[in-house]
Amino acid sequence: MQILFKNIKELLQVREGSIQFLSGEEMNILPTIKNAFLLIENGLIKDFGPMKICPKIHCKVIDASGRMILPSWCDSHTHLVYAGNREDEFVDRIKGLTYAQIAENGGGILNSAKKLQITSEDELYYQSKKRLEEIIQLGTGAVEIKSGYGLTKDAELKMLRVIKRLKENYPIEIKATFLGTHAVPKEFKNNKTGYLNLLVNEVLPIIEKENLADFIDVFCEQGYFSLEDTKMILKAGSKYGLQGKIHVNQFNAFGGVQEGLNHNVLSVDHLEVMRDHDIADLKNTQTMPVALPSCSYFLGIPYAPARKMIDSGLPLALATDYNPGSTPSGNMNFVVSTACIKMKMTPEEAINAATINGAYAMNLQEQVGSITKGKLANLILTKEINSYNYIPYSFGNLSVAKVYLKGQEIKS
Ligand code: NIG
Ligand code: FE
Repeated sequence: MQILFKNIKELLQVREGSIQFLSGEEMNILPTIKNAFLLIENGLIKDFGPMKICPKIHCKVIDASGRMILPSWCDSHTHLVYAGNREDEFVDRIKGLTYAQIAENGGGILNSAKKLQITSEDELYYQSKKRLEEIIQLGTGAVEIKSGYGLTKDAELKMLRVIKRLKENYPIEIKATFLGTHAVPKEFKNNKTGYLNLLVNEVLPIIEKENLADFIDVFCEQGYFSLEDTKMILKAGSKYGLQGKIHVNQFNAFGGVQEGLNHNVLSVDHLEVMRDHDIADLKNTQTMPVALPSCSYFLGIPYAPARKMIDSGLPLALATDYNPGSTPSGNMNFVVSTACIKMKMTPEEAINAATINGAYAMNLQEQVGSITKGKLANLILTKEINSYNYIPYSFGNLSVAKVYLKGQEIKS
């Protein structure tokens, strides 16, 4: 099956060869072809170039005059499998309580865990698939999804099985992350070691047996998991072949970045609070820093210092953090806009961070993230726009007209 897009006003993020990720000044370069064609065959990108060398073949042709095509967004950090919502806590925050105070009063992650534990697997699947369908329509073509709202053996496995079902039933690329260490459950309040042992001795072996996860995560934060805990769970994960992707430096910086680097984690995520030596230590490593601007927006906390990080030569990826507590939104278009507006990233940097670098942060850089021959035809076809700067500029509006996954248009 072939599809030929013709007269594309501008084809964005074209890369001849496969790139691992982009750092520093490279992030400000977004290669494009104006007045381009793009040929898709059997769900993969077969060829592309300027219209003057467009092949003459008999196949389905789509005239993209006035519109642009870019690779789908790569959202490397979400918690989109969850039960119910937490809009009551949202109102409490408006009235003056902080995120930490809400958690201390039994809200927060433990509140979501309580809801999830009493939700059946089918109901959880049903609620989660609606969120997945929604983000696909918003242009996301690859997504990482975490467990971490179960916090019991059964409920964590239930979450991971739901992620597996989503993976089997939808054409979007999905990676699963085990985040048993998201919060210490109430029953283990005075016995955190007992909880960690349960995860290591009882949950990880089943995850391996049923092939339920690609990565392991931990919320390394005061009141959640310490450096020691982080070390312990990352070590255990690596025994089961799970590379780390960790929550660090959201509220406090106390060495989580360095602990992650010791374990060669694939990504360090959040980074709202960054010390100079956190930035320096990340340089020339294979670990991708990931910023989550929608979380900063929603909680009213600082944004990751993207400008400082990129100007120091670091790579950066952008992701949503879609979850019921700190980011009830999976909209990568909003993330890209907010990165430009609040973090002073250029449109080129933001688009690179949300495509190529996001793909790397899921170990999907060979499959998605750029218009490259042989990669999946996971694409966004925009509405008629004057320039790609319009995508972040028109915040809150959607420039996405159609989405394609593996070359198939996904109708809403
Ligand atoms: O990434 N920071 C930790 N976990 C989530 C929020 C969890 C919640 O409030 O439910 C996050 O922001
Ligand atoms: Fe998160």
